[in-house]
Formats: sequence, C-alpha cells, structure tokens
Amino acid sequence: MGAWASRLRAAVDLRSGPLLRIRAVATSLNAGRSCNRAEHRRLAEENRRVVEEHGALRRVAILVARGAAPPEVFKTVACETGGLLRADYTAINRYEPDRTVSVLAHWSDPTAPDIPAPFGGRWPIGNDSAPVVVLEGGEPARRTMESVTGKIGAWYRSHGITHVVACPIKVEDRLWGAMSILFRGSEPPPVDTEERMREFVELVGCTIAQAESRAQLIASRARVVASSDAARRRIERDLHDGAQQHLISLELELRAAEASVPPEQEELRQRLSTTSQGLSSVLAELQEISRGLHPAILTHGGLEAALTALARRSPVPVKLHTHARRRLSEQVEATIYYIVSEALTNVVKHANASVVHVDLSMQDESFRLSIHDDGHGGADLGRGSGLIGLTDRVAALDGTMQVTSPTGEGTSLLITIPVEHA
Ligand SMILES: Nc1ncnc2c1ncn2[C@@H]1O[C@H](COP(=O)(O)OP(=O)(O)OP(=O)(O)O)[C@@H](O)[C@H]1O
Ligand SMILES: [Mg+2]
Repeated sequence: MGAWASRLRAAVDLRSGPLLRIRAVATSLNAGRSCNRAEHRRLAEENRRVVEEHGALRRVAILVARGAAPPEVFKTVACETGGLLRADYTAINRYEPDRTVSVLAHWSDPTAPDIPAPFGGRWPIGNDSAPVVVLEGGEPARRTMESVTGKIGAWYRSHGITHVVACPIKVEDRLWGAMSILFRGSEPPPVDTEERMREFVELVGCTIAQAESRAQLIASRARVVASSDAARRRIERDLHDGAQQHLISLELELRAAEASVPPEQEELRQRLSTTSQGLSSVLAELQEISRGLHPAILTHGGLEAALTALARRSPVPVKLHTHARRRLSEQVEATIYYIVSEALTNVVKHANASVVHVDLSMQDESFRLSIHDDGHGGADLGRGSGLIGLTDRVAALDGTMQVTSPTGEGTSLLITIPVEHA
C-alpha cells in the first residue's frame, strides 16, 4: 500500500520528474537567448513532449488514485501511451499459465488502418516475440518484424508492423504481463521509448495490486461471515434437536406427574405446576435465542416467509414489499434477514416511529433493500455495534449500505448487493 501510494504521489506530484524536467528545459530556453535556432527548436520540442507526457501520466494516476476499475485504467493507458509515443498499436497483455497472453486492452491509431487484437485477444507467445523475451528476462525488450517467427510474426507482417517494444508489468515484484507498443514506420522507435513507458506500466501494476487486495479483502470477509453463519446454524440445530427436545419431554413428564398427584397432595401438585411453568418459559427463551442465532424459517420457508414473520412480530407496523421471485444464496438470504431484523429492532428501540417500509427489489445488476421509518432520526453508526456489523456483512458481499437519518425526518437504510452473489 505504501509503495503504491508513493508511486501515485510521484505521478501526480507537481515536483516530480516530468515537472522538474519542464523547469530544466524552460531554464535552458530562457538562458538560450544566445543559443542557435536549431537548439532552441529542439528545446521547445522537448518542452512540449514533457508537458504532454506529464498530462497523460497525471490523467492515468488520478484514475488509479480514484480506484477506477482495472479495465478502465488499462484502456486509458493503452490510448495515452499510443498517442504519446506516436505508436500504431498498443496493448496491455496478461501472461496466462499456458504460454499465451490475453489482451486486456488495446488501442490502434485512429488515423491509420485499424489493427485488431491478435487472434481474438488471446495468442500464443511463441519463442521469440517481445512478450516472451520480457517473460524470460524480466526486462524491457525490442523486436523487429524480421526477428519474430511463428503465428505472431506472421500477424505482425500482415499488419505492416516493423518494430515492437514491450515492457514488463509487475505487481508487487511478480511479473504479471507486458505492455506492447507496435510501430509501422521504417525508423526504429526512439531510444527513450522504454523509459517513457516505465511510469505507465508502474501505474498499471498499482491498479492491479489494488484490485487484487480489494478482491482478497472481500473474499476474506465473506469467509468470516460464512463461517460464523455456519456456526450459528449448527448451534441452532443442536439446540433444536438436543436441549429443546429434552426440555419438551421433561415438561411433558412433569405435566403427567402433576396430573397423577392425588387430591390430598395439593402442595406437591402446586410445586410441580410451578416447575413446569418455569420449564415452559425456559423453553420459550431458548426458542427465542435459537431464532436470533439462525431462524429455521429462513432455511425451510425462504426469505419472504422469514421477513413476513419478522414483520408480524414487530410492535411497530411494517409495510413489506418483496420482489425476490426465487431462492437466493444462503449468504444473501441471511444477510437480508439480519439487516431487516436489526433495522426493525432499532426502530423499536430508538425511533419512536409509527410505520416502517421495507422494500426488497431485484434489478439487473443488484438487489436493492430499503428500510425507512418515520421516527425522529439521528441514527449514528458510532454509537453501537448493530449498524456497523451490518456494514461489514454487506461489504462481505461487495455491496454498499447507506444510512440517512436527519433529525426529525426518520431513518433510511439503503443497501445494494451485486446480483452475482445471489
Ligand atoms: N431507526 C433509528 N432511529 C433513530 N435512531 C437510530 C435508529 N437506528 C439506530 N439509531 C441510533 O444509532 C445508534 C447506533 O445504532 P446501532 O444499531 O449500531 O446500535 P444500538 O442499537 O444502540 O446497539 P446494538 O449494538 O445492540 O445494535 C443507536 O444507538 C441509536 O442512537
Ligand atoms: Mg441496534
């Protein structure tokens, strides 16, 4: 994280390399009143190039810093470097385990005949392509059309490609892929091409590292939530099949004993009756605890039945609308159930509301759960553990939870969960 942050900062920082170079060139230009016209033109051209490069780097770095999705960053890097280096084609390639590469983004010069990604976007790297040299040496590589054989060599020739430069894309020191830049001209690309690609490939590496860490975090949260749900389900089953059944049979035995007590032993009958009432209330408490651990109705009756049961039990009237037509994954159903359960408990405990609206709908790409009460508002995640726990559960499914609770205007929870988890 520290390494990405410093790379990003370097790319957008006004005092970083490119800007220092601009300043150096500007100083030379000023001092160059006495230098000849050719030198002056060269310095002006260098100045323009550095400004252009800094602009491109800055645009990419800002995207990465904003946490844009990798495909958007790849596409932007392909376009920016293509234009900057006056290339004919650029591609962000990922190495696959079977010695092929996948083209994850590519760009082709819009003013020249179009170059599509080779072989539908996945091609064998062969023995002498630029990416294979990068893969073997871990360093930037250059190839000419004549030096590349096999399918990819033929493909270069069919598109008039004369030169290829490839730079390694590393993700935290692991070689992940290569950025390739292809040229059609007869002149070899300038000697500083690799150096100018370097910061772009570093930014690509940053964005992949960020995306991988985020995916790992979501997966690990999901594992924690799933294993705690599984433990709760197991305890609920054990209580149901073990302690609860045992208590029920003891209660039946006590009632039978109470019924068989002779009339002259009224005191004993009374004591048996009090004990069996106590047993009944222990049983009811145990059932309540089991329901809180994991509601059996959710497993057997499904989400709609479980939410309806929650709504019925709520002392504050609930208007429930669900549009989930099918059974969802266990984790999504449990998450929705626990959110509604906690939200209704909060309404009863804190809101002083007269009604709660619970709406669950499924859109193209996400589930949307909204819970709104007309109470006095003022919900604050920092004051308890219920709402924070819900945020973690939702994040484990890569979803989001928004709490809006202005004083005097009720409280709304809006949760979205991507459909792929359903
Ligand atoms: N619907 C609501 N209306 C008004 N205030 C609310 C509402 N929901 C929550 N709050 C406020 O936000 C705080 C945080 O809620 P949260 O559910 O996280 O904790 P809690 O209910 O106090 O305790 P617990 O950890 O048992 O859930 C509450 O203490 C309460 O002050
Ligand atoms: Mg609460």
